[in-house]
Amino acid sequence: MKQQILYIQSSIFGDNGVSSGIARKLIDKLSTTNASEVVERNVSASEIPHFNFETITAIGEGKAALADELIAEVQQADIIIVGAPMYNFGIPTQLKSWFDHIARAGVTFKYSETGPVGLLGDKKVYVVTARGGLHKGNGTDLDSSYLQTMFGFLGITDVEFIYAEGVNLGDDARSKSIAAAEQQVIALA
Ligand SMILES: Cc1cc2nc3c(=O)[nH]c(=O)nc-3n(C[C@H](O)[C@H](O)[C@H](O)COP(=O)(O)O)c2cc1C
Repeated sequence: MKQQILYIQSSIFGDNGVSSGIARKLIDKLSTTNASEVVERNVSASEIPHFNFETITAIGEGKAALADELIAEVQQADIIIVGAPMYNFGIPTQLKSWFDHIARAGVTFKYSETGPVGLLGDKKVYVVTARGGLHKGNGTDLDSSYLQTMFGFLGITDVEFIYAEGVNLGDDARSKSIAAAEQQVIALA
């Protein structure tokens, strides 16, 4: 059976984003290793609205078509690749909105007496993060801890990070960092 890959692209630079370029190499690598179907969701282009009162009302009335579609894409995926640039120490607002739309009680997580339980189950997530500066291992590495926590909350604990850091620290630093991230992709099992 073909593995289903869901690619979430969130760079505001579209395919020209650093995270997008590396994510594309990762998709190529995974698709050549195994027969795959790739579903692409460009969240910065597709204008997922902010999650607001209208959204939560629509969910209550069973009329949240976009949220339903986003959830179905995640449920059907075996592998999720997230291109996650760091903007203002966090993830892009459009990517946050994607999480707001897919986190639904009783569907992608549930409450229990011992706390919340994630329902998305056995999936592999790759996060390709790109940063202008250096944050890995520092208190400023806020986006990766958010992503690890959020996927964990939804029941996905197998989250692997690929970092391209320091891409705004000069041409040399930029090309070395992107090359190192691409090397990490090539070296993946
Ligand atoms: C609006 C904006 C905010 C940014 N904020 C940060 C930041 O807080 N820390 C940082 O290290 N780099 C920051 N950067 C640099 C980006 O992380 C860098 O351009 C990276 O390549 C973005 O990934 P992308 O090319 O895939 O979009 C910012 C860039 C933009 C456009």
